Amino acid sequence: MTEEGFKKVLEVRQLRKHFGGVAALSDVDLDVFESEILGIIGPNGAGKTTLFNIIAGFFPPTSGTVMCRGEELTGLRADQIARKGIGRTFQASTLFSQFTVFDNVFNAFHMHYKQPPWKALLHTSAVREEERTMKQKAMELLDFTGLASQKDKLAENLSSGYQKILTISIALATNPKILLLDEPVTTLSPQMVETVMGLVTKVRDTGTTVLIIEHNMKAIMDYCDRIVVLAYGEKIAEGLPREIGENREVVEAYLGVMG
Ligand SMILES: Nc1ncnc2c1ncn2[C@@H]1O[C@H](COP(=O)(O)OP(=O)(O)O)[C@@H](O)[C@H]1O
Ligand SMILES: [Mg+2]
Repeated sequence: MTEEGFKKVLEVRQLRKHFGGVAALSDVDLDVFESEILGIIGPNGAGKTTLFNIIAGFFPPTSGTVMCRGEELTGLRADQIARKGIGRTFQASTLFSQFTVFDNVFNAFHMHYKQPPWKALLHTSAVREEERTMKQKAMELLDFTGLASQKDKLAENLSSGYQKILTISIALATNPKILLLDEPVTTLSPQMVETVMGLVTKVRDTGTTVLIIEHNMKAIMDYCDRIVVLAYGEKIAEGLPREIGENREVVEAYLGVMG
């Protein structure tokens, strides 16, 4: 993919993050384009999750900027960034395990489109109407992500693959324009990897840009439009999957340090 004809949705410039003496990110530049699946790979400790945490506003960078469609995100709180259309999933599961699949997704809609509490207390027809709309939206989303048949199961009773899909469904409830997925297929069976990556492709095809951190190289190579490689907090390469696969330095650096 070349830059021509593709709208830039995210622009990361000279991003640096130090944790005490640890340089988690060192002057990273990154451009992300509309409706692409961008893979972010690199050995453990490379700074991949830190990059997501800064983009999503979970903590500020030591220096550098993140711009989204010309607007600076750096300095905004996580909830403000989420409202600007940036959704994310976490490396570890954050499901309400004692809730059903449906309630997990319904709750995500509720959090996003929340009415002031005094209004909900009134039990007006407008509030009831809104509840109905949200239930319908939750069902539509479960249909889209392939979880409709699982909707009444408790989240804790789902297979690990369906749990990953549920976390993606929850992130989609906020209707993000950019979705950050942190290791969505790690530990899944090859068949489930295909299912989850098929969903990621479907999400991209609706116009959402997807950034995906993943160690599963088959998933990365088969489904990403472009790949960025981080190692020791630095961007050491970027390109098409074929170019990255043929880059001896990348392959050695990556395989050399991976656990
Ligand atoms: N909240 C934090 N506090 C202190 N150190 C951190 C924190 N988050 C990450 N680090 C450190 O930053 C480096 C990069 O971590 P991380 O971004 O999680 O890497 P990756 O996701 O690529 O495995 C590691 O050395 C890690 O220990
Ligand atoms: Mg990580």
